[in-house]
Amino acid sequence: MINNLPKKFLDKLNQIYNKTELETIFKWFQVIKRKVTFRVNTLKSTNKEIEDYLNSVWFLFKKLDYLDNWYILLEKQEKDLWDLDLFKDGKIYLQWITSQFIWQILTLDLKEFKNKELKVLDLTASPGWKITHIWALTKDEKELYANDLTSIRIDKIKYLTNKLWFENINIIKNDARKLKDVFPKNSFDIIIADLPCSAEWRINLNKEKSYFYLNNKDVNKKNYKLQKEILENNIELLKEWWILIYSTCTLDPLENEWIVHFLLSNNKDLILEDISSFFDYKDLENIKKTWIKSYSKYIFQKDITKTIRLLPSENTEWFFIAKFRKI
Ligand SMILES: C[S@@+](CC[C@H](N)C(=O)[O-])C[C@H]1O[C@@H](n2cnc3c(N)ncnc32)[C@H](O)[C@@H]1O
Repeated sequence: MINNLPKKFLDKLNQIYNKTELETIFKWFQVIKRKVTFRVNTLKSTNKEIEDYLNSVWFLFKKLDYLDNWYILLEKQEKDLWDLDLFKDGKIYLQWITSQFIWQILTLDLKEFKNKELKVLDLTASPGWKITHIWALTKDEKELYANDLTSIRIDKIKYLTNKLWFENINIIKNDARKLKDVFPKNSFDIIIADLPCSAEWRINLNKEKSYFYLNNKDVNKKNYKLQKEILENNIELLKEWWILIYSTCTLDPLENEWIVHFLLSNNKDLILEDISSFFDYKDLENIKKTWIKSYSKYIFQKDITKTIRLLPSENTEWFFIAKFRKI
């Protein structure tokens, strides 16, 4: 079954991962239904209320040790939640665990900002998971901006922010490559670049559609080019000493490490901060992949070791994260 995947993609996996990692990955590619994970919307509810409710309807769940307000449903599927009031009322929201790590990484920086002005921009924000999450974490007066390209994607942000009660988010529709025409230089303390990518996380061997697109030989190059253009046009919007988070849900090194290499090489005022210690939990041991120093003809800057690559597992998805600081 694995051999149904495009040869080029399999060659890539073999270059990046060792035998044990490949076993984990191939297992993941065959999972039919992934476990449901959700976060408690702390603006509307509490862990206790959610736990009591799930117990009363006999839903088995597990609370995650390494993340606040996060749960996994052990047996039930997403559709089993649809009719529950806590879901309809936005007291919980379904989200990937790996997306949450972005805010975990920023916890200390956010503490510094307690009761101070903080301006955050998500360059490509739809459906709005990350920007709504920071609102839940910071609560008090912060200026948050969620940008995306098309009306359909903007509607998704509006739907999520209304349902979850996150009213104070400024939603803007723009090509992320042109935001410097909208905002002056040094406007933001935190910029989230959770960028469009080749989304190799979605590969599922039970659905040919989920991997057929990888036969297109330019898929990674096109995404690399778009990501590069978005990033290079927005560095100037970041305030000195503040933070740019770059993330993708794909495994391709051209889109991940090579983008980081490009940013470091062309912006002497950007440095990488080491984020690996945020993943030092027993439950994450098997998914914390050590960085790769090179791939094919590409050799990455030595600081690449400060980024993180997450492998998929029963509860988590692919993710790549780099934290830059502008000095
Ligand atoms: C990975 S998703 C972002 C997920 C989002 N940050 C979240 O946490 O929910 C990538 C988004 O990039 C948007 N996008 C693609 N090209 C864009 C562009 N040129 N300008 C702005 N947004 C773009 C897509 O519409 C999509 O919503």
